[in-house]
Amino acid sequence: MESVVLDGLLRPKSIAVIGASTDPSKIGYTVVDNIIKSGFEGPIYPINPSADEILGLKVYSSIGDCPGEVDAAVITVPAKFVLSVIEEAGKKGVKGLIIITSGFGEVGNKELEAEVVAKAHEYGMRILGPNIVGTLSNAEKLNASFAPVLPLPGKGALVSQSGALLIAMDMATFTRKVGFEKLISIGNMSDVDFADLVEWLDNDDNTSCISLYIEGFKDGRKFLNAAKKAKKPVIALKSGVSAHGAAAAASHTGSLAGAAKVYGAAFQQAGVVQATDLGNLFDLSLALSLQPAMKGDNLMVVTNGGGVGVLSADAAEKYNLPLKFAPKELQEELKKHMPPFGSAKTPADLTGMAGYDWYHDSIKAAFSHEWVDGLTVLYCETAMTNPMDIAKGIKKAIDESGVTDKPVTVSFVGGENSEKAMQWLVENHIPAYAGPDVAIHAISALREYARMKEIVNEPEEKIENVDRAKAMEIIKAAREDGRNALTEIEAKDVFRAYGLPVTTTKLSKTEDQAVELANEVGYPIVMKIVSPDILHKSDAGGVKVNIKNDEACREAYQTIMANAKAYKADANIHGVAIQEMAPWGTEVILGSVNDSTFGPTMMFGLGGIFVEVLKDVTFRVAPVSTKSAARMISEIRGAPILAGVRGEAPRDQAVLAETISRYANMIVDLADEVSESDANPVLVYEEGKGLKVVDARIILK
Ligand code: ACO
Repeated sequence: MESVVLDGLLRPKSIAVIGASTDPSKIGYTVVDNIIKSGFEGPIYPINPSADEILGLKVYSSIGDCPGEVDAAVITVPAKFVLSVIEEAGKKGVKGLIIITSGFGEVGNKELEAEVVAKAHEYGMRILGPNIVGTLSNAEKLNASFAPVLPLPGKGALVSQSGALLIAMDMATFTRKVGFEKLISIGNMSDVDFADLVEWLDNDDNTSCISLYIEGFKDGRKFLNAAKKAKKPVIALKSGVSAHGAAAAASHTGSLAGAAKVYGAAFQQAGVVQATDLGNLFDLSLALSLQPAMKGDNLMVVTNGGGVGVLSADAAEKYNLPLKFAPKELQEELKKHMPPFGSAKTPADLTGMAGYDWYHDSIKAAFSHEWVDGLTVLYCETAMTNPMDIAKGIKKAIDESGVTDKPVTVSFVGGENSEKAMQWLVENHIPAYAGPDVAIHAISALREYARMKEIVNEPEEKIENVDRAKAMEIIKAAREDGRNALTEIEAKDVFRAYGLPVTTTKLSKTEDQAVELANEVGYPIVMKIVSPDILHKSDAGGVKVNIKNDEACREAYQTIMANAKAYKADANIHGVAIQEMAPWGTEVILGSVNDSTFGPTMMFGLGGIFVEVLKDVTFRVAPVSTKSAARMISEIRGAPILAGVRGEAPRDQAVLAETISRYANMIVDLADEVSESDANPVLVYEEGKGLKVVDARIILK
């Protein structure tokens, strides 16, 4: 449905420019000029109250006067006139508005922007912008923008939240020799957003890949859902990941949840390939727009030079696609197409003598072999060979192999002739790059894309046996008490309601009661101050461990109380928690933040010094399935510690995965209430022996 509605905006059959001008210095002139020059085949209606003719086109004083239907209207009148001109456009039956005009939400004029959207929706119109450059499409022969020319033709679409960057990237398509079918400026995203465009472009026959320059989302989950459903690759370059959210966080997780980590997790979960910088966005767009995903891990590299071969092996390891030796029979086959001093291992080194035939024959043999999942061809320009011959040999071998479901990337290192040969390869839909590492990075992105898509298609799980009513009762009581931080005992009760294994913890309000409860729980015990005003209990001298008898219990009670009062004289003290002393286990941390973009987001990592110093943690937008939780466990650097190193028994990773998944479901279930939470530490025991949440913290919204 969305897709059909956006057709009028992005694939218009007729177009008006409201605010067209006879003055060549104005945007309203440039846009009309661009639409004409780009070869648009439908009717073009310039609208201006006082002009008769612009660039040979008849001018209409109002859009209502246009003789035929108008699908899209580009708006280039100042902000204060926008509301009235879109009213006229609505009455005319225009489907989409491309609002170039600035001066709305981006300068704080949010009310006017909201009015403009409401007015457009009243007439069923959709808005691109405001505050945009416009939209450009080679297939539609339409440059409805003030960017100079249509981009170098290609197969992908590029959507940019920055207008200036879109113009710059438009021009860079020619110098970088990476073409795009479409460029779309999205600006303030008052209405049409990234998610809408991903959905529309996914159904657009002219688009093979969707590249995005993102500054931020208004609704992160809407984007994730659209990206998850996309059948075409989505590549994202996200800017502004350096200084977000880390400040003013009350929990551990809050302080660790920087935008880089949360966006990285979200993109991975949605199967979105992440570009590292602008150059990489172009490089990956080229590969993902021209080549199929790589379905397995077996990468074959064919080269004429040892140096670039070794560089490719280094890059393959760096980009998570380490090279492997091909099976014997493939090596034997490859040996037939190289001199005796060549190497049939991976990279297959045809040596500096390799010309058209050896390249052609070895590539054909490798590409059609079932072991090979993807191929990177490297070439160093030599005096013995002609780069264009090699390029033609590569193309012919690929075509003759008849294989269309495996990717190939190429790198030629050399001079102008190499450059020309690479350009020819790109024109023939084979991505070629100046550096071997870039060719490997590109093919590894095709592998990464396939890996992520497999995960995206896993079914979600629903966690059973939860007592939401109990959790809400505890939260309500704390709120009635005027608090937004739960005590440890309350937080543990909430965790328990969601089936998390927490240590037995009871609240004592007097020394005598402490002794009584200690005997109920059973020595040895841990004693901790319980006060909503003291979140960092150890810092306040509010924790005593390994209490073994009544006498030690009394002494600890007095010391903890005295320390707490000394730490914060006016602290509201509920009493002292008497807690079973859990045996030693591997410390991990589970936590959550309610991210402003993606909502409830889960963190996992090794606890103690690992989280404090190494920040060895990983994130997921919740909910998290047990399978996904198992991947979280295996992707932290400290994973071998949980898997069992140096003769140590493996930890109970199955229970840990289930606990992470339960925790993630809990934060989704309580998303309206909980802003941050930590289970820290959680002690994980040997396989079969489970785990215990030893300390708990919940901050309410
Ligand atoms: N219907 C039709 N035409 C009208 C109407 C109307 N109701 N009202 C005014 N016009 C005409 C004007 O008469 C004028 O034509 P003229 O030259 O024949 O007199 C034309 O519309 C434009 O109006 P101006 O008042 O001359 O406005 P100007 O062209 O100076 O500025 C603009 C308009 C470009 C929309 C400006 O307000 C603006 O927002 N500029 C920034 C745009 C921008 O940069 N957007 C992308 C941001 S991303 C990046 O930074 C690259």
